[in-house]
Amino acid sequence: MEEQSIRMPTNGTAARTPRPKPHYLRMPAEGEGGVFTQSWFPVALASEVVPGQILGVNFLDGKIVVFRAPDGTVRAMSAYCPHVGADLSVGKIVDGRVQCAFHHWEYDADGFCVKTGIGDPPPKSACLFLFPVRERFGIIWVFNGEEPLFELPTLPYADDELVMQAYRFGQTLHCDPWVFAANTPDMQHLKVVHKIKFAMEEPHDQVQWHDWGFDFEYRGLHQGDVPVDNHSGIRGTSIFYRWGLYDGFWRCNVTGFGLPRPGEHTVYSCSIVVKGPKSAEQLENVLAISRRTVGEDKDILDTIHYRQGLLTKADKSLGRFLNYLRKFPRAHPSAGFIN
Ligand code: FES
Ligand SMILES: [Fe+2]
Repeated sequence: MEEQSIRMPTNGTAARTPRPKPHYLRMPAEGEGGVFTQSWFPVALASEVVPGQILGVNFLDGKIVVFRAPDGTVRAMSAYCPHVGADLSVGKIVDGRVQCAFHHWEYDADGFCVKTGIGDPPPKSACLFLFPVRERFGIIWVFNGEEPLFELPTLPYADDELVMQAYRFGQTLHCDPWVFAANTPDMQHLKVVHKIKFAMEEPHDQVQWHDWGFDFEYRGLHQGDVPVDNHSGIRGTSIFYRWGLYDGFWRCNVTGFGLPRPGEHTVYSCSIVVKGPKSAEQLENVLAISRRTVGEDKDILDTIHYRQGLLTKADKSLGRFLNYLRKFPRAHPSAGFIN
């Protein structure tokens, strides 16, 4: 342990110690320059997308509609009608198509206008922006792009061996989604905020980087000296996952940080355990820990002005992650459609 310097108070009589100007690198904010990171963002719980209904959701710097196509698959499209801009979330599903409330133009499951209410032929360019969508872990995920650059994480068990339950954290947090993602490589915070005692000094050497995030394994003790053996990682700028043994049973969380508007995020999380005689009790336990963990972070994340300030040796992985974020692809192909 390095000795820390202790500065004695001067009670106002001694000369004031000069202090250097703050030094930090600003991180690019979501929406800065009109672009957003190209990641998968949760927009709804799967259970909220009911056949026959249209859900309107704020996304990026605009709004999208989310609904089930006739085959049951979920579609996410820009919310504003290319006729004169009515919000399609106040429309209806008619014959499997989205019908605009204003003049009854109808959009097929691919987002093209196939019919106008008055009978005029639809203009050829009358279409909505169609987003890539995944329905996974009880959550609807939408990719900011025309084609996904990477996929959601895959788990070490098949779905039919697992029990899952997703929830949305009730409070919107006032920082970009990547700020929450930056918690995972922030080893100092894992110790201070979540009270994890690592079995190794710091797991920086365990961190495996790849193009779309990183993974690392650690063993240690969680609160109450519960033994944990974890595989954790971040995918993109908005997905956290963690699985492994917790107090002797396998558990997993896949957590997504939604982007309803620049400078805010909404937390969706799926708790997962292996099917078995104790799975109901284990799932309750995992859900409670997941809510507790988000609760431990929430006041900090709701008020932070995140910047890369003065990092120390213990911030090795965090520093690398902030570099990764700065270089992360940013784009906004749905601009003009969703606003
Ligand atoms: S605004 Fe949608 S049909 Fe006219
Ligand atoms: Fe945290």
